[in-house]
Amino acid sequence: SVIDGRGGILLPGFVDLHTHLREPGREDTETIATGSAAAALGGYTAVFAMANTDPVADSALITDHVWRRGQEIGLVDVHPVGAVTVGLKGKQLAELGAMASGEARVRMFSDDGLCVEDPLIMRRALEYARGLGVLIAQHAEEPRLTVGAVAHEGAAAAKLGLTGWPRAAEESIVARDALLARDAGYRVHICHASTAGTAELVKWAKSQGIQITAEVTPHHLMLDDSRLETYDAVNKVNPPLRENSDVSALRRALAEGVIDCVATDHAPHAAQDKCCEFAAARPGMLGLQTALSIVIDVMVKPGLLSWRDVARVMSERPAQIVGLPDQGRPIAVGEPANLVMVDPDVEWIVRGDDFVSISDNTPFEGLTLPGQVRMTMLRGRVTAQEGKVNPL
Ligand code: DOR
Ligand code: ZN
Ligand code: ZN
Repeated sequence: SVIDGRGGILLPGFVDLHTHLREPGREDTETIATGSAAAALGGYTAVFAMANTDPVADSALITDHVWRRGQEIGLVDVHPVGAVTVGLKGKQLAELGAMASGEARVRMFSDDGLCVEDPLIMRRALEYARGLGVLIAQHAEEPRLTVGAVAHEGAAAAKLGLTGWPRAAEESIVARDALLARDAGYRVHICHASTAGTAELVKWAKSQGIQITAEVTPHHLMLDDSRLETYDAVNKVNPPLRENSDVSALRRALAEGVIDCVATDHAPHAAQDKCCEFAAARPGMLGLQTALSIVIDVMVKPGLLSWRDVARVMSERPAQIVGLPDQGRPIAVGEPANLVMVDPDVEWIVRGDDFVSISDNTPFEGLTLPGQVRMTMLRGRVTAQEGKVNPL
């Protein structure tokens, strides 16, 4: 196939540190195959598939299966994220070593969607991870502060009678785990930073020499809790959409490098789990096919990030954080070609129905967004081109 690069911008393939692919367990909402297709179309060459599947990815049996299935599909490297503990809200550390040394070579472990609340478990996980050289990623939710919480604790939620999710539920864990990382002398990664205070805490921790990194999602860079007015559960997500002042602070923190990277938290859900009462709906929104366009819209267009910076926050930094040697590299002689070519000027209208994801829970429905992926290449093979995937 002929690749026309005129007017295009060439970047290293994107690396998503935070994707939910729902296989095994909820293949009615997303599979490794459909999630891989969405990733390739979104410009990604590597994604990290979160562990809150059913069964939970807490053993090498499961993490190796996810890795193999991803390689079989061949559209994107699907790196399984291992669970920190055995099972949901586990009290016992999982076999991180077995997962790290299995075929999948698991590099990241997280409590996302599983919730490790016990600081002693987190402390022991960091020590275990230090020995293995793997990353621990923290969902950052103090569950005793989020009992029944469904939306950001603020005026918008109060007006609708929705139970609030306070900033402190996130920030108290960020502060706690920064200190645990300090004491362990080892790095910790903060998932989906959603408040100005989290950005401040990460900045402080970095200034103290604490090994901490953080990601922000496209939706927390774009949307705020004024969205609640529609009472549409498509806007329900954990952590919740915050206030306009948080959104501005997160954009600044990403521009300054306080927040290291953008991660999607791509979270497919079935229509019936999203169309019920707001309080009963599942939290989460799709992200893989809209992430780049949101970053262009809210960060590049206003001059907060250059294209060089886009390469950094979408690819280089995430690859570094997780230690992927063949991803996130500038294009150089002899390097495997993990690339994405972006058309910066094309505008398109978001239609959930058009996504290759099985689910269509996008909060950006109907929005006109800038920037389209013209081509994605994984180790020299074109995986997506002009809006179509190229299966193996
Ligand atoms: O919004 C969210 N959705 N937050 C999480 O922590 C889990 C995720 C999911 O699995 O749907
Ligand atoms: Zn989470
Ligand atoms: Zn998540």
